[in-house]
Amino acid sequence: MRQRLLSEGAKELAYEIREIVKKAVKVQALGQAIVWENIGDPIQKSGVVPQWMKEIISGLTMENSTYSYCPSKGELNTRQFLAKLNNDRGGVSISAEDILFFNGTGDAISKLYQFLKHNSRVIGPSPAYSTHSSAEAAHANADPLTYKLDHNNHWYPDLDDLYLKVKFNPNIVGILIINPDNPTGMVYPIETLKRIVEIAKEFNLFLVSDEIYLNITYNGAKAYSLSEVIEDVPGIAIKGISKELPWPGSRCGWMEYLNRDKDPEFARLCSALDNAKMLEVCSTKLPQLAIPKILGDPRYMPYRLAQNEKVGKRSKLIASILGSLPQLKFNETYGAFYNTMIFNDGILKKSQKLKIQNPEIEKLLKEWLSENDVALDKQFVYYLLAAKGICVVPISSFCSDLQGFRVTLLEENEELFIKTFTTIKEAIEEYLAS
Ligand SMILES: Cc1ncc(COP(=O)(O)O)c(C=O)c1O
Repeated sequence: MRQRLLSEGAKELAYEIREIVKKAVKVQALGQAIVWENIGDPIQKSGVVPQWMKEIISGLTMENSTYSYCPSKGELNTRQFLAKLNNDRGGVSISAEDILFFNGTGDAISKLYQFLKHNSRVIGPSPAYSTHSSAEAAHANADPLTYKLDHNNHWYPDLDDLYLKVKFNPNIVGILIINPDNPTGMVYPIETLKRIVEIAKEFNLFLVSDEIYLNITYNGAKAYSLSEVIEDVPGIAIKGISKELPWPGSRCGWMEYLNRDKDPEFARLCSALDNAKMLEVCSTKLPQLAIPKILGDPRYMPYRLAQNEKVGKRSKLIASILGSLPQLKFNETYGAFYNTMIFNDGILKKSQKLKIQNPEIEKLLKEWLSENDVALDKQFVYYLLAAKGICVVPISSFCSDLQGFRVTLLEENEELFIKTFTTIKEAIEEYLAS
């Protein structure tokens, strides 16, 4: 090419949650059945959308108007419905004009960072959900900036770490919260959120809160929306239906601008996002039409609560299987549907292994392990895949120096769920003892 085509930041665009799938597919092709513990797709994992929701959606497909474009910002009626849903929680009020629809929250996330100046940075949690950290880092042509979630303290944010990083880096213009969190399953306590708001206020920052799991909490936990705590600080809440309904294939999510009028620079960012969507025309319409009909249906809340209870039960089951392993730092989860377990310091060694029955799979594994700089937790993850057919994600792939792995709490079949986690436990014991 006449010139280099890619920016430096393009190298940040790796997505390990799906990368590991390529390897798992190769193992599968060699005859090993795979348990997919890598991706947070409830449907792929055996979840079923209730019949009544499907009827609402199929009814919409019979209306001719469903097939046209919708307004650039999204269906007005849906935005009015969502604004009311937010306003009913108390806190900062918004109108339909403060809502902008995207083709999934993933789309919202990549657009959000795109228009910031290269050196205007948003600091996010580590371990990091890589759609945020990669998109932010790609816009900045630099490594992601992160604050620590502390696995020795329920995965709560280390607020001193956050404060000092913000204080000593004048390029930081925003703080990201993922509440409830992926990959840790932690729910930000309200006091923590209030402290983050204080930090934003002190340094004149905006806040971003990814709330795609806001209504997925269990075992007594409640997640607070940014709008409930933000007072007069500018912020953006990102929400969607991929996990809640669940309908990940809808590719539908939205932003809610909070206190748009409180800062002219922030107002300009919101307008840039609105205008960019106008250039694209609009986002997927069918799910937008379905939102008020489904979320407003009296069957919705009881359904969601029953689903949450099931996830909560699985969270306890995992705790009963893996919680007492002395080689792991285990935290119980209270939101979203993941758990991240961390190996004790220094316990993972290059020489450790699991027995692989199939010589062809063993050969494949050897190839992967000969790649440059395979992190020790990634090595464990590769062995778990090759020996037991269980596909999890190494935590070193989530912008973290820790060594561990993430699993999901999505398997609906309890027997299979227990079997999978018992196998993981036995694999950890065999691997560490090897
Ligand atoms: C925290 C978080 N935000 C956003 C997304 C992307 O969701 P969507 O399907 O709406 O793009 C995910 C998906 O796993 C997620 O975990």
